[in-house]
Amino acid sequence: MISPRLDMILQNVKGSSVADIGTDHAFIPIALAKRGVRVIATDANSGPLLSAKRNIEKRGLNITLLQGFGLDVLTAGDTEEIILAGMGGDLIKTIITNGMEKALASRLILQPMNSQAELRQFLIENGFEIASEDLAKEERKVYNLIVAKAGKTELPDNEIDLHLPPILYNHPLFPMLIEKKEREFKKQFIGLSNSKNANSTELKRLENLLSCINKLKEREL
Ligand SMILES: C[S@@+](CC[C@H](N)C(=O)[O-])C[C@H]1O[C@@H](n2cnc3c(N)ncnc32)[C@H](O)[C@@H]1O
Repeated sequence: MISPRLDMILQNVKGSSVADIGTDHAFIPIALAKRGVRVIATDANSGPLLSAKRNIEKRGLNITLLQGFGLDVLTAGDTEEIILAGMGGDLIKTIITNGMEKALASRLILQPMNSQAELRQFLIENGFEIASEDLAKEERKVYNLIVAKAGKTELPDNEIDLHLPPILYNHPLFPMLIEKKEREFKKQFIGLSNSKNANSTELKRLENLLSCINKLKEREL
């Protein structure tokens, strides 16, 4: 069964050749190969690779399986698109940094499990533009997807746009994302307010983010 998170990734693949980095069980490559997409599936670790190999062989699909760190196993321009999904934002940043030339040569489909704002900032500061974004819901969790490609954009003036990007305002799941970010910032604000050496700049920053969230919520009503 393809989960809503995996389905969102599949819906955002537009190319005819794709590399899925950190494939684990190879569910994404299997679904894409069935659609006629040429796929390279990679993973850094032997356990996931073995499971990927078994799943691919069971279905008799033609998918290239490679072991290695991040984009090291690819050649620039190997595939039109690169998927980095189900990983932390920091690991995605590290993988892109270590394979910058290859990353800039492809459309990137990124599905970070955390640190989304930091990843957006990193992309903008490193020669990428965010082409589109998407959201998926699984039970009470909301998952982000960011599509990036080489291009020039400016960092937004207001930090809130890195957490809750305007490109997502009309997404049906945007209210759920607002609630998630509000919970996160409130938790940080309360934690910091209760600490002995509360940093006033950081408190002000969180206050500002929460006030921007209130304005966005009013807009949603
Ligand atoms: C949580 S799984 C995500 C699987 C799949 N991409 C998904 O979205 O469901 C993360 C996978 O990334 C692999 N991985 C971690 N670091 C990696 C790296 N630097 N390069 C390639 N694969 C990596 C892990 O071995 C693991 O199989």
